[in-house]
Amino acid sequence: MTALRFTPLTLTNGLTFKNRLVVPPMASQTANENGLATDKTFSHYHNLALSGAGLVMVEYSHVNLAGRSEKNQLGAHDDACLPGLTQIASTLHNAGVKTGLQITHCGGKDSAGISCDIMGPSGITVPAYDRVLPTPRAVTLDDINQWQQDFVAAAIRADKAGFDLVEIHCAHGYGINQWLSPLANQREDEYGGNLENRARILIEIVTQIKQVAPRLAVMTRIPGQDGYPGGLTHADMAQVSQWLVTAGVEILNISSGIGGWNRPKDKRGEGFLVEDAAPLTGKTTAAVIGVGGIESVDYIETILATSQVDLVAVGRAILAGPVEFAHKVMQG
Ligand SMILES: Cc1cc2nc3c(=O)[nH]c(=O)nc-3n(C[C@H](O)[C@H](O)[C@H](O)COP(=O)(O)O)c2cc1C
Repeated sequence: MTALRFTPLTLTNGLTFKNRLVVPPMASQTANENGLATDKTFSHYHNLALSGAGLVMVEYSHVNLAGRSEKNQLGAHDDACLPGLTQIASTLHNAGVKTGLQITHCGGKDSAGISCDIMGPSGITVPAYDRVLPTPRAVTLDDINQWQQDFVAAAIRADKAGFDLVEIHCAHGYGINQWLSPLANQREDEYGGNLENRARILIEIVTQIKQVAPRLAVMTRIPGQDGYPGGLTHADMAQVSQWLVTAGVEILNISSGIGGWNRPKDKRGEGFLVEDAAPLTGKTTAAVIGVGGIESVDYIETILATSQVDLVAVGRAILAGPVEFAHKVMQG
């Protein structure tokens, strides 16, 4: 019998992954100061393709200079980024893997003082366990319009560059997470207040991307919950997932929320976020990705066999040695 990890998966838009292994987006910080990919970026992704994963995601790429949070962050904010993005996508395609570009706006989570205009839904400082973030200004309706245009323009660039999918980063306390979360979004207009209003900016972005780039699959990296007192709950995210899929999302990549992507202190062992993904698996037509400290073939096979997730993301264990990981996965 074929091991489950080698079973192909076809999304509702027809895009097929050759297996169930995913390299999640991981910032390589190899872009130049203008957000353009460099030779280091190309060789980084060439190496990640050697892991054997069927889908290699490309790191968070800012949609606007105001949404940039790291000095050497990759950009998707300008057509000048297109040649580099095209080369990354073709490097991965030539290695026989599918690829997607993660696009992001940091909102009020700019730890490095890089953003040219730090703003968030309500001008509330984003809570964080490990750092003190600056206080952002509250966005205006014009800013909301700009955010939406920027995400859509970045998705069009991902399409032109030849990526198979685009992923909207809605997790880890960054911009769209701030919109979804009651901790950071306390607006009183149609973009704040109840969950439906807090999800509005995201659902509108997804809807627009589907209209202008129908070839692209759309993935959202969402928190299974905020992991912060008073934040998004599992029930909230089950509802948001339904809205996302109705708007056209084909993959839900489940990670953590306002608390950041690191392992929560009380979680031991492999798959520290899989229990946040499992309640969403099979509930919609979207494929669900689980993540968090996964490294063994036994664990990967177990969560696939028990239908806790459809796809398994392995980050640091692949970063540490893509070729070694490929050998382990082939033999296991
Ligand atoms: C160096 C590094 C950079 C990361 N950059 C991103 C990123 O750009 N976007 C994102 O959504 N997550 C990012 N993450 C989180 C990973 O995608 C993943 O969720 C996390 O590493 C947990 O998986 P793991 O335990 O298999 O490494 C990053 C993680 C690491 C280690």
